[in-house]
Amino acid sequence: MAVPRPPGSALTTLRAMRRDSLGTFTALRREYGPIVRVPVPGARLYLVSDPAAIHEAMTATGRTYAKGSGRSTDPDRPGFQPLQRILGMGLLTSAGEHWRRQRRLINPLFHHARVAEYCAVFADLAERTADSWHDGEVRDIHTDMTELTLAIVGRTVFDVDLDATIMRRIREWLTENMATARRGADTPWTRLLDKLPLPSTRRWNADRRALDALVYQLIAARRASGATGSDLLSLLLSARDEQTGATMPDLDVRDEAVTLLLAGHETTANALAWAFHLLGGAPAAQSALRSELDSVLDGRLPTAADLPRLPYTKAVFAESMRLYPPAWIVARRLLSPRDVLGHRLPTGSMLLFCPWVVHRDPQWWPEPEQFRPQRWLRKDPDRPRYAYFPFGGGPRQCIGNGFAEAEAVLALATLFRRWYVTPVSRDPIRPRPLITLRPATPVPMTVSAAPPA
Ligand code: HEM
Repeated sequence: MAVPRPPGSALTTLRAMRRDSLGTFTALRREYGPIVRVPVPGARLYLVSDPAAIHEAMTATGRTYAKGSGRSTDPDRPGFQPLQRILGMGLLTSAGEHWRRQRRLINPLFHHARVAEYCAVFADLAERTADSWHDGEVRDIHTDMTELTLAIVGRTVFDVDLDATIMRRIREWLTENMATARRGADTPWTRLLDKLPLPSTRRWNADRRALDALVYQLIAARRASGATGSDLLSLLLSARDEQTGATMPDLDVRDEAVTLLLAGHETTANALAWAFHLLGGAPAAQSALRSELDSVLDGRLPTAADLPRLPYTKAVFAESMRLYPPAWIVARRLLSPRDVLGHRLPTGSMLLFCPWVVHRDPQWWPEPEQFRPQRWLRKDPDRPRYAYFPFGGGPRQCIGNGFAEAEAVLALATLFRRWYVTPVSRDPIRPRPLITLRPATPVPMTVSAAPPA
């Protein structure tokens, strides 16, 4: 039996995806079931929305499925991926033996005890944001959260206070790269674009040079000073492969540091902005959050030791990522033919897993469109593991998931123990699905020290 596919030309689906990819994927799942062919010229693309099939694909070895698109069936060669040209062979975009070696080296930097050490940074920097707000003023929460998470990676990855100009430049550069995916992948077309004296190319190259200059300068300074700090850069420079004893060359350190800088702030900033947006529309949830913070913290800054004592704050974060998963799409390419949900799919097929769709599937989530943090306070034994996968899973699971969770929970706790927020408009904020799920517009909210009337 053939995999179901929507009628009409590929152009119709492409147009619909361009207009509204989240709506199109949701409709494809609803109308055609847990596996559906997405008709795109030149590619065998399938949307797979069944948690058991997603589980199987995400946890399979790197010899069965690979990241990125392309024709290669060599598990050591990374496929094309947006952001590849920026992140090089960093953890997010590399493959095969190189990825395995780097992941082995970098894993210990994200162990529980290390993340606990960073918790003071998370709370201190969130408190700096809380201090900068004034009663009754309107803040663009997405900008504030982006600045906060960038400052956090600046301090934890590089142990520096990234200055405001560099921060603004990194943000603008990333926005441009996400809006035009052509800037991300390393293809003959993008290499040609790099050589043309177009104003956009000149700007792109200048920004890349600025970012690289900053990172190499930080690497050189850290090498010169003996790299003994507990920031991730020092740890990358001193890390030794447990099998070979080798340290990392500067180019690899650059790729990993830029990966952590970019992957480590953008997603968490979006998750926090969406959490604020949802709390703004749910005064009862906001007051339940404040009650928990008042009773556990009694006004003081939260610490790593408070994390297990803040179940509702954690639930707010989990529920926000259910409704607005920052990594809204994850893809895998088949390296050999395989049966998926009873269909034999050929080598080269691309499987798309869309947390936005699965996280709102009424089969697993009662009242799926409702923001209900309390659903996380009780475990549902019938819900499959991959009905919720904001951090992916298996060997390529987000290395920063414990980091992100601690960071987000401590940031929410620090800010909401002092402030209430009210949206300036009742209109919902639309998501903009680029590589990550950003708010399409600013997220203006009034911050107030007293509960809104
Ligand atoms: C709410 C915040 C975050 C979300 C939702 C998120 C989501 C994800 C997802 C879904 C993946 C897997 C992608 C795939 O399988 O194709 C991933 C990978 C990754 N993430 Fe995150 N992430 C977050 C925060 C962070 C942070 C804070 C860091 C680092 C400080 C980080 C670093 C990485 C890296 C390096 C990878 C690649 C891992 C590998 O392939 O070995 N992420 N992330």
